[in-house]
Amino acid sequence: MDKRRIAVLVSGGGTNLQALIDAQTSGIIQSGEICLVISNNANAYALQRAASANIATAVALKKELGSQEAFEDRIKQLLTDHRIDVIVLAGFMSILSENFTSCYPKRILNVHPSLIPSFCGEGFYGLRVHEAALSYGVKVTGATVHFVNEIPDGGEIILQKAVEILPGDTAEILQKRVMEQAEWKILPAAVEQVCSLL
Ligand code: GAR
Repeated sequence: MDKRRIAVLVSGGGTNLQALIDAQTSGIIQSGEICLVISNNANAYALQRAASANIATAVALKKELGSQEAFEDRIKQLLTDHRIDVIVLAGFMSILSENFTSCYPKRILNVHPSLIPSFCGEGFYGLRVHEAALSYGVKVTGATVHFVNEIPDGGEIILQKAVEILPGDTAEILQKRVMEQAEWKILPAAVEQVCSLL
């Protein structure tokens, strides 16, 4: 059977993208193939990771395109041009409007670095999520992979994994543990699960 064509949307370092690339190499992802990486930041290191893996890249800059609508139209065009079936938000730090998400129901996945519904929604991204978990004083956090709809971090949950918070944790230490123990495992697993069922 043909593999599902996957696009990964990124903004920064791209360690989750790397986990997906590695999962493809090792066979954890076998029902899909990463065909395109789109960044909303021209300097994202994730673009170099994609290039090193011989994956096509594109950049969409909201500032240059002038509006949210033009930004989303550009991404839609790229997805159409590359015949993309499944879209993965992997550290993509821009909220997509209903105009965009409604075009791809149950076709967009996002990884979020907490156990949704804790520490999620608008304003909760990257290190801020871990800062919020530490300042609340929770003893367990984790990561969630969910489908993306019009509500930020509000779509149906696909996979979650819990991670312990330890005495002395800083947001940076906790971010690394959540990535290693949860995000880099559940994101490839969820991508394979979704691709295999399409
Ligand atoms: C990851 O921890 C990801 O879960 C988080 O940003 C980091 C990106 O790292 N995403 C969000 O906070 C989205 N709300 P990466 O670029 O190394 O994958």
